[in-house]
Amino acid sequence: VTESLASLVASRLRDIPDFPERGVVFKDFTPLLADHDALAAVVEDVVARFRGDVDVVVGIEARGFMIGAATAYALGVGFVPVRKAGKLPAATESANYALEYGHATIEIHSDAFTSGTRVLVMDDVLATGGTAAATCDLVERLGGVVAGVDVVVEIAALGGREALGARPLHALLQV
Ligand code: PRP
Repeated sequence: VTESLASLVASRLRDIPDFPERGVVFKDFTPLLADHDALAAVVEDVVARFRGDVDVVVGIEARGFMIGAATAYALGVGFVPVRKAGKLPAATESANYALEYGHATIEIHSDAFTSGTRVLVMDDVLATGGTAAATCDLVERLGGVVAGVDVVVEIAALGGREALGARPLHALLQV
């Protein structure tokens, strides 16, 4: 990651204290999305690293849809959503994973792509990595190959990188 891109990203993120709950500082990337030049710089960085090497982008609900769909278009590949349980209309594969308190379930359409498809997984933030790791599990269950996991922000202290194991993770900014 070039220093200038990381600082551009940092300048287009804002910290929202106590959201969604007390004690959490939420990394809001809507200012980045709203700024065409910043959005284009982020997308072009991903494109430069993956063009020709992935067949589909998988985006994680909800903010992974925003950055993932824009990037898929720029890469010239399709987009596949991973959604919270009960949102996808056709037959799904689902994965359950632990949250700090309780658990969550995410799903992908069972016929989203064929075996051997090279997949780039995208989201806004990697925190504990639970969501991204469960997404990779779903991709691999369909026979997909995780070519990379790309996030805008990695909250390094929460250990998400370790949760992904050997899957290659790239973050535009680490905090
Ligand atoms: C946030 C974020 C990631 C996930 C990261 O989504 O967009 O998807 O949490 O956390 P983790 O690394 O600890 O799993 P959120 O649960 O807020 O869902 P939303 O995007 O639908 O609001």
